[in-house]
Parts: sequence; C-alpha cells; structure tokens
Amino acid sequence: MSYEAELAYADLAAKLNRLGQSHVFTFWPHLTPTQQADFAKQLNSLDWDLIANLAETVVKHPQKFELKGKVEPAPYYPNIPADAAMRQKYAAAFKRGEDLLRQGKVAAFVVAGGQGTRLGWDGPKGTFPATAIQKKSLFLCFAEFLLALGKRYNHPGGGIPFYIMTSPQNDAATRDFWKKHNYFGMSPADLMFFPQDQMPALSPTGKVLLESKNSLALSPNGHGGSLLALHKSGALADMKKRGITQISYFQVDNPIVRCIDPLFIGLHDLDNAQMSSKMLPKTFPKEKLGNFAIIDHKLTVIEYSDLPDDLAEQRLPNGELRFRSGSIALHAIRRDFVESLNQMGERGRGGHGFALPFHRAEKKVPCIDLDTAALIDPQKPNAVKLETFVFDALPLTTQSIIYETNRLDEFAPIKGPTGIDSAETSPKVTTQRNADWLEQAGIPIPRNPDNTPNCTIEIAPSFALYPADIPAKKSKTKIPPIPPGGKLYLP
Ligand code: UTP
Repeated sequence: MSYEAELAYADLAAKLNRLGQSHVFTFWPHLTPTQQADFAKQLNSLDWDLIANLAETVVKHPQKFELKGKVEPAPYYPNIPADAAMRQKYAAAFKRGEDLLRQGKVAAFVVAGGQGTRLGWDGPKGTFPATAIQKKSLFLCFAEFLLALGKRYNHPGGGIPFYIMTSPQNDAATRDFWKKHNYFGMSPADLMFFPQDQMPALSPTGKVLLESKNSLALSPNGHGGSLLALHKSGALADMKKRGITQISYFQVDNPIVRCIDPLFIGLHDLDNAQMSSKMLPKTFPKEKLGNFAIIDHKLTVIEYSDLPDDLAEQRLPNGELRFRSGSIALHAIRRDFVESLNQMGERGRGGHGFALPFHRAEKKVPCIDLDTAALIDPQKPNAVKLETFVFDALPLTTQSIIYETNRLDEFAPIKGPTGIDSAETSPKVTTQRNADWLEQAGIPIPRNPDNTPNCTIEIAPSFALYPADIPAKKSKTKIPPIPPGGKLYLP
C-alpha cells in the first residue's frame, strides 16, 4: 500500500473500530492490493454514522409498529366525477395537465432499482418481456408511451424527459439494454440513468455482513431512496435547468402504466399539492396494497400487514370497505418538494439530511463465516436489510390529493412468474382491457362463456393511449375481424 493509502486505511479502521464494525477487516491481510483498494472504496462510500445509528435504533432495538391516534380513511377524488361541479373541475384539471405537458414542465420517473427476487428474471426487471404478442420489454412499453404522449402534446424539447433510477447491481445492464435497442427511438438527451445508494445488511446484533472476503453484503436502500438519488445524482438540478416542475413517479413492473396522466397531474397541480397518489379500490379487506389513511391529520400509508383486521373489515352503509383506497405507488411529485425532503433530516449523529426514515426487512442474506470464510446460504432470515419507502414522504406534505383510478385501465403489474399480479396474469388483464376498449368502439370481440376474451389483443401506445382514441383510429385503419382464439396486434 502507498503511504496515502495506509493513512486512509488507518482512518477508516479507527472509525469502524470505534463503531464496533472492525470485523470487516478480518481477511484484510490476505487480500491483494487491488482487492484492498476496491474494498476500501466500497467502505468509504457508506455513511457509517448513519449505519451505526440504525444498528441501534432499527436493528437491535426496533420499535414495534403501533397504530396510534385517530385513524380515518383518506378522502379521494373518485374515478368518475360525482356531480357537475366535479366534472368541471376534472375538465379543468385535464386541460391543466395537457398545458403542463405542452410547456415541457413534466418529467417521467421510473424506479427500477429493485432486485426483483420474486420474478427471478436474469437481468434488470425492466428488460422482462411483458406484452402478450410482441413480447415487448417493460422499458419498451414506457418508451412507446412517452413517445406517443410527447408527440400528442408536441413537447417543446422534442421528447418528454425520462429519468430512470437503477441500482449499482443493475445500472450497467440497464444502460446496455437501452443502448443496444437504440434507446427505443427516444433521444439519449432526454434520458438520464442514475443508481440509487446501497445499504449493508446487518446481523440481528448489528454487525454488517460480509458477502465475500472483500465485499459487504449490500442491497439497494428501498424505493424511498429514489427521492435521495434524484438529489444526489444531479437529476433534480437537471430538471430545474429544463424548467420541469412536476415529476410523474411510477414502478418498473406495470406494462400498462400511464407513465404520465394529464388528469392526475392536473388535479395535483390545480390543488397545489406537493405529492399526490393514485389509488385503487381494494377488492378485499386484506389485499396486499398499502392503505391510505389520515392519522392525526397526517396522510399516511398503512401497510396491509399493519392494518388491524377490525379496521380492514369495516364497511360503509353502501357495503363499500371503509378503508378502500389501496396504494399502487403512482405519485405526482413537485420537484421543489423533493428538494426540500433532502434538506429536512437532522444532520450529524446519524441524521443524513434526508427526511425519510429507515425500516427493517428481515431477509435471507448469503454471507461468509468470519472464522472459516465459508459461504453461508441461510434457509431462514438471518439478517436485517435497511430500506426507506417512498410513501413515507406523504405525511411530510401539507397538501396532497388522492385520485381513484380504474384498475383495468392501468394496473397489470408483474411481481412474480405465476399467481396474482404475475407474468401470467398481466397479459390476460391487458387483453381484457384492450377487448373492452375495442368493444366500446363497436368492434366485436369473441368471448368465452365467462365473458373473458377468447382471443389475445395487444395495443401499442402509438395506436391508442386512451379508449377515447379508438374511434378515430378505427375510421382511419382497417381493424381485421378477430376470430375466436385469434391474436390481434394494433401498432
Ligand atoms: P418491489 O416492492 O416490487 O421490490 O419494488 P423488488 O425489489 O422490485 O422485487 P422483490 O420484492 O425483490 O420481488 C417496487 C418498485 O420499487 C422499485 C422496484 O424496482 C419496483 O419498481 N425499487 C424497490 C427500487 O427502485 N429500489 C429499491 O431499493 C426497492
């Protein structure tokens, strides 16, 4: 080691020693100089004061979640406006959203840093072939949506700016995929890729785990890390330069997501909200969606596992669930609100300048034994991962709206290979949506006795972004009849 490297090592070693993490150097004397340098770089990239603080407060002495205070369902804008005044408001909001798009004030933002362990796809989740006929990747679905939207609103900069958050694990593979596909026709100038931060997994006694002799077991710091990464990567500064005021946030797993929805963005902007959310009415009390609630005047998302049964089961006189709003992690966020979140947290003594709290997730994390260096592949959770959640920003807003969206129109997520919300169900749900859209425009659809479509239909965003686009297309394009069991792709 050079003299400078020795000094840097001594500093780091002293710090980790003080914080009770000196075991990370167990194999140090046996590492090559290059391995030592790489490991030191990894260790230096982490915020050790924060880790030490979380080891005490979240790992060793976690607070049990308790629902305290008055818990009320959160109000929301219904999918279909309830009266004339609301119809007028929705019309004004849609126009506002369209104006913001025409003025180039809205950016799309996908969080694609997750590990996608449930799907088990070998590659970034966004590269998964998601659509029914063309097998388009999730990333291609988003690019096509944004290209069609940009064209419709004659975006002043050419294309709608698209910010893609990756993780250190999938950043290179994500960039390569986009490059290999020539950015799916989007201009590279409109795309910004950046990785989120990682956090080490800790043992229940608060010690960071080693994945190998010269690397910690690291994982992305949760989707809430996106609001920090927007700041650290310079994405917020880039948005400011481009005059972007609103960010349309979505997850990587839904091929029919409206990456930007003028009505939703418009309602959020008209009401001067800082961060807003779309919701779906839950289909049953304990559906695996976060629940929007007002707790002591603060908008909060209660995880489905934390919502007590008696609240989950409560019904209104009309039979609807009282807590019916499920979160699908679609948000409209003001750029300046994200800026403020990065200034809110108390700095020093574990405060990291960023407002969102860390949560614990007990997971199976492969790691090495410190005595033998043998790899341990745990059969049950052996570690605590530390993550922040994007919806924890909601209680920090002073103004926020919720808009009820239509499940069929934009919710076909792919979480796993099979079962609910899977690679199997997503193309079926999408075909169902497309069949309804075409049928509403007078196009006959072959159906099974249970009314599900007896065919497969894929509609590209260039063909229609909304059902209302279909009649005009129908008069210009010849749509061939769909035979029972047939396939139809509308480009
Ligand atoms: P999920 O909760 O589905 O997690 O993330 P996941 O890591 O992708 O998948 P599993 O649980 O391992 O199967 C919801 C969204 O948040 C993003 C994901 O990429 C997805 O779009 N996310 C999650 C991040 O960007 N970073 C994270 O650290 C976690």
